[in-house]
Amino acid sequence: MGQRVDYFKTIDSTNIQANKIASQSPEGTVVLADEQTKGKGRIGRTWVSEQNKGLYFSTILKPDIALMQAPFITQLVAASLTKTFLDLGIEISIKWPNDLIYKGKKVAGILTEMSAEIDHISYIIVGIGINLYKKDFEDEIKDKATSFANEGIEIDRIEFLRKFFPNFEDLYEKFKAGDKRECLDILRSRSAVLGREVYKIKEGERVKVFARDIDDMGNLIVEHESGQVETVFTGEISIRGL
Ligand code: BTN
Repeated sequence: MGQRVDYFKTIDSTNIQANKIASQSPEGTVVLADEQTKGKGRIGRTWVSEQNKGLYFSTILKPDIALMQAPFITQLVAASLTKTFLDLGIEISIKWPNDLIYKGKKVAGILTEMSAEIDHISYIIVGIGINLYKKDFEDEIKDKATSFANEGIEIDRIEFLRKFFPNFEDLYEKFKAGDKRECLDILRSRSAVLGREVYKIKEGERVKVFARDIDDMGNLIVEHESGQVETVFTGEISIRGL
């Protein structure tokens, strides 16, 4: 993982570039950029990626797993990032399914994209954006997002990547061998939503629910005010209202 790194000063999006080279590239190839002109966020959003304000990179994975296991990859990445931050002494938590939170505000996001045939995965692109030095946040996100520099924490990009890839590889190999225990421990113990009332958002509708647990597939188990218990699948919806 990270043996081969394609580095760009400027690119449209490391996810777009990784998609272009995925079929001809070995698993673990990384696309890294100082700046993205068309950084992509989840649900068609833009991920503003100015030069040297953050860490923007994508990794190509080619796991031989069943399609139904694929959504867990986002959870695995969230757990690997969290483990790396904790190793650095930074108290990160995870807002299911894919936001990393520091002191109540988002500092990093994950965008996972998959290319699959009917019954098997061709490749998965895992894009990670971390706000390192960003100072000015757009009006609509400034109460919800921050950067490490804003919080008085210096993170060196290369040092972070050197620590992240071994953690990622370790949890990824365990996952492929059927062992998700460490991942699930991190997801549950560092969750910013478990044990709280949150809003489930689907097709623009907000429903108040209580976040009970994360199941072994990485899905969120919520309880409605009526007492009805529901499994919320990763990638299906997002949870707001922290
Ligand atoms: C989100 O929280 O909405 C996900 C943000 C993911 C951003 C990263 S930056 C590197 C990679 N390339 C992209 O275009 N997006 C991801």
